Amino acid sequence: MKRNTRPEGHPLRPGGAAAHTAFAVTGIPGGTDEVEAALLRSRLIAAVDAFGGHHGPEPLTVTITNRPADRPPAKAEADGPSVAERAEHFTAAAPLYTFDRLVLPDRTMKQLLRAIHIVERRRTLFEEWGLRTIQPHPSSAVNLEGPPGTGKTMAAHAIADRLGRPLIAARASQLESKYHGEGPKNLDALFHAAATQGAVLFLDEADGLMSARFETTSHGSEHAVNAMRSELLTALDRFEGLAVFATNLVSSYDTAFDSRVRHVRFPVPDEAARAEIWRRHLPETLPLAGDVSPRALAGVDDVTGRDIRRAVIDAAAEALLTGRNRVGQADLLAAVERVKASRPQRPAPVQPPS
Ligand SMILES: Nc1ncnc2c1ncn2[C@@H]1O[C@H](COP(=O)(O)OP(=O)(O)OP(=O)(O)O)[C@@H](O)[C@H]1O
Ligand SMILES: [Mg+2]
Repeated sequence: MKRNTRPEGHPLRPGGAAAHTAFAVTGIPGGTDEVEAALLRSRLIAAVDAFGGHHGPEPLTVTITNRPADRPPAKAEADGPSVAERAEHFTAAAPLYTFDRLVLPDRTMKQLLRAIHIVERRRTLFEEWGLRTIQPHPSSAVNLEGPPGTGKTMAAHAIADRLGRPLIAARASQLESKYHGEGPKNLDALFHAAATQGAVLFLDEADGLMSARFETTSHGSEHAVNAMRSELLTALDRFEGLAVFATNLVSSYDTAFDSRVRHVRFPVPDEAARAEIWRRHLPETLPLAGDVSPRALAGVDDVTGRDIRRAVIDAAAEALLTGRNRVGQADLLAAVERVKASRPQRPAPVQPPS
């Protein structure tokens, strides 16, 4: 403990009493996760407060910091970059895909468009038409939920394109790792960037943030995850634009997200959808042999849109490599089988112990 009268101290008992005791605890190691540090600080302050309560009327000021007591804090060190500075890391870009490239079952497409419509028109619905009286937390995000390669990223771009807006894309994991332990501030900055640039906000890998259970072990503590989750709720309530989330895991979502996020499930394509996806992945300029049949190619099952894209590119490259100037049905069939065989094995879902 050390005497310290710097004004940044946390005044537990401000007042003009004659004897004013103040001390600093330099016990939080540098590099500690910010959320952890805040927790430590509040526990220490509460402990000292309780202690002070038993020791007469003398006022007490406590400063808990990881800086040496005599060095004045540099502003950037104390607060880190501002929200506006962090927001500069997120730049909006023109969307890459349009809806006419996306193949989804009619039901899913309607669900998607309805969800976007509700989020887009929420000011009319919830403010002007007063629906906030029955739902205080209107939807401000759409969650695209489905296995890898089923068109979620593509749909996020298509949504931005349909709305005539740019897109800001980020991954939840990137928010955490960019500045260690500063996830909530980065999340805030992401929403700030989308609001100021009038962009659709696309947040990939959003499951960890919305999940009811504590699942993250790689990026800090349970406390840090909870801090991100509450920041996300606050940001969603403030955000006037459209947020699109994408998730692979269908986990149990925290009920706080029930009203704020509308879920749209992206299925693995069935045979009819596969035929259509094959068709849309064979550009007119691609020299095809006469035997190529999207309908027959769709007979190969357990294939996603991403697999089909990869197969078309592989087949075309193979045809070139072997000195042929046309891509035939056999090339495409061989390529899609290669893609299926080389696909990383998805781990089986872990069963909870019974
Ligand atoms: N439903 C679809 N309709 C048309 N093309 C599709 C569809 N799904 C996937 N594709 C093709 O596969 C590519 C990759 O899909 P995308 O990146 O959108 O998948 P994703 O669902 O976001 O996957 P991940 O969960 O791994 O991020 C698309 O750019 C497109 O070429
Ligand atoms: Mg994606």
